[in-house]
Amino acid sequence: MSQETTTPEALPPGEAGAGHAQGLLAEAPPPPEPPHIKVANDETIAEGAALLRAGELVAFPTETVYGLGADALNPDAVAKIFKAKGRPADHPVIVHLAAAEGVEAFAREIPDAARRLARQFWPGPLTLVLKRAERVPGVVTGGQDTVALRVPSHPVAQALLAAFGGGVAAPSANKFGRVSPTTAEHVGADFGTAIPLILDGGASPVGIESTIVDLSGEAPRLLRPGGVPVAAIEQVLGAALAPPGEAAPRAPGRHGTHYAPRAHVKLVRRREMIEIVGSHKGRRVAALALEVSLPRLAPALQRVVPAVAAQYAHELYASLRALDATGADVILVEQPPQTPAWAAVNDRLRRAAGAAPASDET
Ligand code: TXA
Ligand code: MG
Repeated sequence: MSQETTTPEALPPGEAGAGHAQGLLAEAPPPPEPPHIKVANDETIAEGAALLRAGELVAFPTETVYGLGADALNPDAVAKIFKAKGRPADHPVIVHLAAAEGVEAFAREIPDAARRLARQFWPGPLTLVLKRAERVPGVVTGGQDTVALRVPSHPVAQALLAAFGGGVAAPSANKFGRVSPTTAEHVGADFGTAIPLILDGGASPVGIESTIVDLSGEAPRLLRPGGVPVAAIEQVLGAALAPPGEAAPRAPGRHGTHYAPRAHVKLVRRREMIEIVGSHKGRRVAALALEVSLPRLAPALQRVVPAVAAQYAHELYASLRALDATGADVILVEQPPQTPAWAAVNDRLRRAAGAAPASDET
């Protein structure tokens, strides 16, 4: 959507000729329906657990991003996640558990390294890929012999998992390829009433997805940087993590087309950002700036985020969604520092920037 789009109501009388109006109507978004967002409390969490048991979808907050959950052992329920998201069926999803003890029910041949990482970082933003137990349906694993497991720390996720009493398969609760949601409103914006219940537990504190480590092979491998720093994981393992290789299991979040807003995202240095803002040749430009706002850009078209990695991560997706909603053609993102502390943030920014066609340069 761009601001130039005229709503039919805004047309002067006489210009609302059938053809013209129809063209505009065809482009107009459908009227927003009230999403099924409910503040998380004992009652709504019990309702969520009952929906999961009935094979329905429930969106819920985790400390990283919101998840779109279904009973992990019910293939029909998990299939609904793929349908709602528009996600290809061969992409595996993470199974969320209330406690590390649950791992035995979903994985086999669990290595000592997995136990040590679980002890140190669970509950928390770490996902472990292990060899799957036979009972885990193929729709969860994308037909692979491995399963991704995570024990989230968010109190609402914890309460929902405890009330449900089983594993909950949940990818991030966004439409496939779009920016992950960090609030219940983000989930509502993507799905409307297509999900029977969206539990609202406030903004996700971490703000970007979990770190994924594959422990199903010879050596521990990093599949995705995220909420737990790689250095902290390597310290517990006493060894370096191998980078994702050719033979790594499929992790769609590693592809460039993920975590992308509709607008073209361009990573730039501050000087370049100021130059583009001053000479954007009719394109609608929005910006995500570090610490200091841009002088020649309307406040509504920019977000200023702290140059502290954890705070930046917390605000990143909400900022991208807000800037995307301005109808901007281009979102200029000021390049954060390229130090290890920023690895997960820079990973997501690169993906967001990589999603636009090369011809779409400013
Ligand atoms: O923080 C998170 O991890 C969030 C919250 C909701 O827990 N979840 C999340 O899910 O980011 P999703 O589906 O958007 O990304 C999960 C990633 C995908 O890249 C998927 O391919 C990968 O985990 N994955 C799942 N199972 C896997 C497996 N068996 N082997 C390799 N990668 C796997
Ligand atoms: Mg995702």
